[in-house]
Amino acid sequence: SSLVLHPTSLPAAFFPASTPASFSRADFGPDFHWGAACAAYQVEGAWQQQGKGPSIWDEFTRRPGAIKRGEHARVSTDFYLRYEQDLDLAQSLGLTDFRFSVAWSRVLPEGTGALNRRGLDFYDRLVDACLERDLRPWLTVYHWDLPLALQQRGGWANRAVVGWLADYAQVLARHLGDRVQHWMVLNEPMVFVGAGHALGIHAPGRRSLPGFLAAAHHATLAQAEGGRALRAALPGTARIGTTFSCSHLTPARPGHGPSEAATRRADALLNRFFVEPTLGLGYPTAELPTLGWLLRRYQQAGDQERMRFDFDFWGVQNYTREVVRRAPWLPLLGAALVPAAKRGVPTTEMGWEVYPESIYEMLTQYAAYPGAPELVITESGAAFADYPQGGRVPDVARRAYYQAAIGQVLRARRAGVPVSGYFPWSFTDNFEWAEGYRPRFGLVHVNYETQERIIKDSGRWYGEFLGGAVVEA
Ligand code: NOJ
Repeated sequence: SSLVLHPTSLPAAFFPASTPASFSRADFGPDFHWGAACAAYQVEGAWQQQGKGPSIWDEFTRRPGAIKRGEHARVSTDFYLRYEQDLDLAQSLGLTDFRFSVAWSRVLPEGTGALNRRGLDFYDRLVDACLERDLRPWLTVYHWDLPLALQQRGGWANRAVVGWLADYAQVLARHLGDRVQHWMVLNEPMVFVGAGHALGIHAPGRRSLPGFLAAAHHATLAQAEGGRALRAALPGTARIGTTFSCSHLTPARPGHGPSEAATRRADALLNRFFVEPTLGLGYPTAELPTLGWLLRRYQQAGDQERMRFDFDFWGVQNYTREVVRRAPWLPLLGAALVPAAKRGVPTTEMGWEVYPESIYEMLTQYAAYPGAPELVITESGAAFADYPQGGRVPDVARRAYYQAAIGQVLRARRAGVPVSGYFPWSFTDNFEWAEGYRPRFGLVHVNYETQERIIKDSGRWYGEFLGGAVVEA
């Protein structure tokens, strides 16, 4: 069978000319990982069930004005109780892999010390439920929900977090490592550090330069130390990775020196900052000298070596590109992102430009590092307003986005990039942090009143693609 998309009303941005004209799953080889992703706080609900301790997101979502419409994830998609049905749907679509995260404070309510058996049991059952359905579990150790008890001890700004995270990672490895092969230490450090400690729009809602610098350096150390902790506790066959947010950057004025230089600085901060230390290259301070100088205050002798870890894979998480202009009034960076709305380009519900070629650009950028490991697209997706109509959700735009995005992954593979997996964000609609429930990212629609699930047309499309259908332009 073949999948031909008739673009009735979609802008040309959804159909980059570089997309392979016709392709199918077989072009990616038999071992390619075809998954979908989610994260504990965004789906689980059950925020104080069975001994779970509070996290910084349980606290942050109580602050007036922190989240759009005052929303929170105390129930969300109720994944804690409904995971089996959701995994049934994932299996029915033919996924081979499933990515989730562990809520730290479910397992260790205080962040350190006493283990909560019932919390750990949930992940035991979740892992088994994946395996029963032939879904390989991919486990993210930290997806932003720090135990509140650790925040009260300074959180990411306290260097002790490096040891706390490593100990927690070892607990997971010891209990789940006999069945979980694929591990990711951190989810998008630049986002939780930047949005949480500099911009104040994510938990813990801080806006402080020293706090940001401390958290950034401790996250870099924790990323590597967490990798070492997992490696020490896991069988030699385990695959240990970590994930990075990234966006292809283009200058607002191509060929204009200051605009190009601003783009290089933004690239150093947004795309390279957490990546290069893992290779032993340290921070990209040549482009960001002031930042480098300020960071020294938090560094100790031997840290350059401690930041290094030989990951088996990097999780590449990409949603859009950004256009950069010089902004001399902004300290440290001297660069600003030009919002897509001001550029008159097609956008998603998040206000992000529809630009699937960013995936190809970032895969090739990361693969170019000497010593780069295997790459996996651990997140890729798009939020659009979806309207269920007679039992179906005709999300043409999301379907087109996935078609283009997967085409760009194939383009990168054909250019020699070792990319071995693709995980749509997200399997079901869920709680989109400060944006609440309005941006819907799922392949599966969730009715938050009834908890009813409907596989969207994009989900059906993904299922047909995984079943071998040929995608044609
Ligand atoms: C990145 C994050 O890992 C995930 O939690 C978030 O929902 C998506 N991107 C979409 O913004």
